Amino acid sequence: MNWPVPDKFSFPAEENELSRILKSKKRNHQKIIDLTISSPYRGGLDFREYLPKIPITEEYFPDPKGESNLLHSILLDYHSHGRSVEPDSIFLTSGTSESISVLIKLFTNPGDEAILLSPGYPLFEELLNWESIRVKKLDMEFQPGIKSFWRINIPSLEKAITSKTKLFFLVQPNNPTGMTLNPDNKREVEMLLEKHGILIVLDEVFSDYNHTNKSYPEEWDVNSIYLNGISKKFGLPGWKLGWFYIKWKEKKDKSVLDRMEHILDTYLNVSYPIQLAGSQLFQFREAIQSRIRNRLQTNLDRLRNELKDESIRPFFPDFGWYIPLKVETGFSTERLAEFLLYHEDIYLYPGEFFGFKEKFFVISLLSNEEDLQSSIVKIKNLFNQKL
Ligand SMILES: Cc1ncc(COP(=O)(O)O)c(C=O)c1O
Repeated sequence: MNWPVPDKFSFPAEENELSRILKSKKRNHQKIIDLTISSPYRGGLDFREYLPKIPITEEYFPDPKGESNLLHSILLDYHSHGRSVEPDSIFLTSGTSESISVLIKLFTNPGDEAILLSPGYPLFEELLNWESIRVKKLDMEFQPGIKSFWRINIPSLEKAITSKTKLFFLVQPNNPTGMTLNPDNKREVEMLLEKHGILIVLDEVFSDYNHTNKSYPEEWDVNSIYLNGISKKFGLPGWKLGWFYIKWKEKKDKSVLDRMEHILDTYLNVSYPIQLAGSQLFQFREAIQSRIRNRLQTNLDRLRNELKDESIRPFFPDFGWYIPLKVETGFSTERLAEFLLYHEDIYLYPGEFFGFKEKFFVISLLSNEEDLQSSIVKIKNLFNQKL
């Protein structure tokens, strides 16, 4: 007998060909050049000297809001970026995925709708699916030029909104494009969200990694929720610590805060020793981030040198850890990614993974510099043979 599978699992259960090749190579202990990494450690960066000792303790004071020293450090961190966050409106979680999940629980009923943007980080769609929320996706438009921006098409957004739309998600700066919205476009979106009473959730995990003179992303002038965490801020995805805060346009709604505490109290997912150690990390923010920034910058410079007048066109990001590379090819980038992994042992993301409609690869700027350069040379040679 087959188990009854609900509609939210309508996608195929089998893994895709790319994962199959990857697993088989790993099983055979073949060396792979991994250009998808999302942890500085995997790129060979070592900042253990800055990591606080995690206390060995039986101490535990369960608090759905989180440990007070850590909350204070997070508030000061926002303050250094010119934001004033109300202490009772911030909550700790075990990472961004948990933040998103509890926000969906609080602000939607099954069958409600949420709007996501493409290209974008693919996990949100899954998280919404698990909570039985209908996802509507909008393609962002690219505005080239010296001051390039991605923008949201306002008539398309208006068309996507229904009486069931409760949440609008924006990754600011975007992953993988590394872009923020054009300020005029932001204002238009704000007006529309306000008119329809839609809450905006902003994932800001890449906001500390700026490659240009664009300033730290701005808060929105509507009821909004801002997510961040140490997985990108301190390059420590394994520590499993995130947070979010609510910004109220006008009056604070205490019942929202009480209900959020109630939800988090049923999980209490954040490890207490990590909460105790977490606040000490903040004094090393600059030291850790400058090491990460050096790696990102070196790789951006190498790509700038390697990819001139070629059939591979880098879309240089303003922020973040990834870069999209536009390619001219008659094949799908998924097939090409399989080819590169199978024949050249180079593992990168096909753009389809992030919802690109045009042909893109996406690679991580945290990659080891020599590996990134040698792979780009190989990929360039392949494309020069007119794929
Ligand atoms: C846009 C974005 N948000 C969130 C995350 C994951 O954050 P966390 O480790 O806090 O779940 C990632 C990881 O790559 C990401 O790209």
